[in-house]
Amino acid sequence: MTQPANASAVFVTGAAAGIGRAIAERFAREGWTVGLYDIDPDAVRATAEAIGGRTVIGSFDVTDPAGWDAALKQFADATGRLDLLVNNAGILFSGPFADIPLDRQHRLVDVNIKGVLNGCHAALPYLRVTANSQVINLASASALYGQPGLATYGATKAAVRSLTEALDLEWRHYGIRVTDLLPLFVATEMMTEVTRASKSATTLGVHLTPADIANTVWHTATTPRTLRGPHVLVGLQTKLTALATRLSPPFVTRAVVAWISKADTL
Ligand SMILES: NC(=O)c1ccc[n+]([C@@H]2O[C@H](COP(=O)([O-])OP(=O)(O)OC[C@H]3O[C@@H](n4cnc5c(N)ncnc54)[C@H](O)[C@@H]3O)[C@@H](O)[C@H]2O)c1
Repeated sequence: MTQPANASAVFVTGAAAGIGRAIAERFAREGWTVGLYDIDPDAVRATAEAIGGRTVIGSFDVTDPAGWDAALKQFADATGRLDLLVNNAGILFSGPFADIPLDRQHRLVDVNIKGVLNGCHAALPYLRVTANSQVINLASASALYGQPGLATYGATKAAVRSLTEALDLEWRHYGIRVTDLLPLFVATEMMTEVTRASKSATTLGVHLTPADIANTVWHTATTPRTLRGPHVLVGLQTKLTALATRLSPPFVTRAVVAWISKADTL
């Protein structure tokens, strides 16, 4: 489809389900050109048909640098710009650390960390030539303090948080803003795996919807940052947790996380 020269353009990974799909819907509704990319080609096609608007679609695995290069070239050929990259694709395996096979732990690292850094690396040339461009990474509240039952998942999200801080400073002179979102539990398919072995969701409940996260991404992308840092805490519980980890003595934080996650009953 031919794109109007002035339409802002967003590239979303993991766009065929859950939070990514809601983000794609939100930006399409606002008149942006939306790149929907996912590892699942049938689901991404069905999603694009369902949301309508101006879309560019494709399928690749975010762990594959060549896949990123081809997808971004296809997107830039169609749109001529990259205003926003949303590194949303992610996976989760839950359970006691020792029970999760090592190949699954490696896959978590590959998708959740390498997928994001592949995307940032491949997208930089396109971001640099688009004025006021941005990257928004989906981290998680589990990046605030390690969660029993979600040890490696939380570690991958803490890495995304760190990468976000560094690139936000490194890329400041290009005029590129890098932000991450730290939501607590969101009602998506991923929660099936969270609740299978982590007790935190049962203790705290699931209070966020994919639309809540999409609204936050929209607000973040369209509001000047002013004094806010690169981390966006989503939901009251996340804000309280972040405040508590900052203000409480470490032994209190540790005890509270142990209680929330029922660590001794895993
Ligand atoms: N659901 C939550 O409670 C929650 C909370 C905080 C952060 N997050 C983060 O938000 C993001 C989206 O989560 P969700 O709940 O929508 O998940 P989801 O499982 O509902 O959807 C994930 C999408 O990513 C795609 N995907 C998975 N691996 C991929 C890969 N290697 N390459 C390309 N696409 C791939 C899937 O096909 C799927 O369409 C993830 O990064 C997740 O870690 C989720």
